[in-house]
Amino acid sequence: MGADVEVDPQRPSGARVYDYYLGGTHHFAADREAAEVALAAMPELPAVLRCGRDFLRRAVTVAASAGLSQYLDLGAGIPAAGDVPSTARALVGDARIVSVDVDPVAVVHTRRLAGDDPRSAALLADLTDAGAVLESAAELLDLERPVCLLVVAVAHFIPDTERLGRALERYRDAVAPGSYLALSHACNDGGEPPPYAHQVLRIYNHTTSPMMMRERDEFRAFFGDWPLLDPGVVPAASWRPSPGGEDPGEVVRRSLLAGVAVKP
Ligand SMILES: C[S@@+](CC[C@H](N)C(=O)[O-])C[C@H]1O[C@@H](n2cnc3c(N)ncnc32)[C@H](O)[C@@H]1O
Repeated sequence: MGADVEVDPQRPSGARVYDYYLGGTHHFAADREAAEVALAAMPELPAVLRCGRDFLRRAVTVAASAGLSQYLDLGAGIPAAGDVPSTARALVGDARIVSVDVDPVAVVHTRRLAGDDPRSAALLADLTDAGAVLESAAELLDLERPVCLLVVAVAHFIPDTERLGRALERYRDAVAPGSYLALSHACNDGGEPPPYAHQVLRIYNHTTSPMMMRERDEFRAFFGDWPLLDPGVVPAASWRPSPGGEDPGEVVRRSLLAGVAVKP
């Protein structure tokens, strides 16, 4: 699981731009420049990303509270507060976590933080290579027991819907009943995309992670026939929001869909 990794600091990467918005420190000048241009087009962008990260935390909390102790985090990103390892471990001390990312910086930092922890592994891989990812993940995770699959804020970086759909089907098939699937996706829920959406997409298309939005029905299909937990597929901000949390506003609400399903 420990392939060598190479980083190109000249080309902005989606993972490092995301890290910049979340207030992290793992980004280069090219990442900050792309992030600032996108921010000028859509000032709500960091709020949308924080909203996605909050959904991730709530989804992991629900899975951990249900007793799940195995996590396959697909498109895990650069480690930051509220990520899967910190959230899951706070609730299930001996949780096993496999993080997968196509970005070398994300993988290097995840490995560095995990140190020699035998309950963690970080794979440099494209999550659509589901067979290879599952084979490596099975070195740490027992696929005969429930796994929490996380595909949070990443599917919109995979434009080939058929390939993505096939990969997700393979993950769903490989895991045991009682497994969870948490997904979120950039969308334009509720009408014509606003002008800034095109600008933001154009900027991301110059990074290592070109981005696209999908409609609600297309997103729903990624769960296959697994039943959704309440409240179903909804704006990420409305998925079991924390009591007393602030309303993030309409732009944030319509920008990101989310849901969690359980394998029957
Ligand atoms: C916006 S970040 C989301 C990180 C984390 N899931 C979260 O919600 O906070 C998206 C991550 O997905 C990664 N990514 C994009 N396409 C990918 C792919 N095909 N396979 C694996 N990772 C991918 C990017 O490198 C980036 O780190």
